[in-house]
Amino acid sequence: MIDKSLVKKRFKKSLKSYDENATIQKETAKKLISLLQNNEYNSIFEIGCATGILTKEIQKSLNFKCFDANDLVKEAKQYIDEIIPYNDFLSGDIEEIFLNKKYDLIISNACLQWCNDIERTTEKLVNSLTDNGIIAMTIFGDKNLEEITKEFGLENKNYSITKFKEFIRKYNILHYEEEIITQEFNSPFEILKHLKLTGVNAVKEMKLTKSKIESFEENYRKLHTKKDKVILTYNPVYIILSPNK
Ligand SMILES: C[S@@+](CC[C@H](N)C(=O)[O-])C[C@H]1O[C@@H](n2cnc3c(N)ncnc32)[C@H](O)[C@@H]1O
Repeated sequence: MIDKSLVKKRFKKSLKSYDENATIQKETAKKLISLLQNNEYNSIFEIGCATGILTKEIQKSLNFKCFDANDLVKEAKQYIDEIIPYNDFLSGDIEEIFLNKKYDLIISNACLQWCNDIERTTEKLVNSLTDNGIIAMTIFGDKNLEEITKEFGLENKNYSITKFKEFIRKYNILHYEEEIITQEFNSPFEILKHLKLTGVNAVKEMKLTKSKIESFEENYRKLHTKKDKVILTYNPVYIILSPNK
């Protein structure tokens, strides 16, 4: 099970450094918005908003009357207030909180893969859509951070993109796309720092002794060097769906 209090602690700590380091999340947020066929919505609900990388794209590209945002970390509200001041902020775990409104667009970038039960959560979100409502999300596939997930046990064992892909077949899938993006770093140590600064190490306490770091550096360079850089793989998956077939 994902330890939500650890996820909360890690993301709360990384809020200040997140924007500067979340290069991939910025790319996926932009792309998710570009995949929407419509730019007019009455009501929008964003899940796992953090510092508002996706919120800024929403504000720039979509017309809407009502905007609600959510994050596990309540301190995220202050960032969202700067972007869309008239928001309603629902703090808490999206798997647990009660949703009492219906939305035309429920949207999320790089968050829902942390769910312990993404299928049940998606069902709950589908029940919070208006008649013509849609859900748009970026989550991650099996190859995401593949260079480090096994090494540090960072995978969410309750989540599998294969299982989720099968699950959403009951809905109307308007878009499904997997992407591979490789990011280059000067050293394996820089990768560890990057993971910390973006909170992506959030699922597990990583106990890093000096000797663990040294052997990690050596193995990483051996296995994942490209020219004079080391690489890290991201595997975003873009999904847009509406409830009815
Ligand atoms: C990688 S950040 C992505 C932030 C933002 N969506 C973006 O586009 O940059 C993930 C965010 O999701 C939040 N989060 C993780 N699990 C959550 C959950 N179960 N319910 C609500 N928020 C969650 C974290 O607190 C964090 O702020």
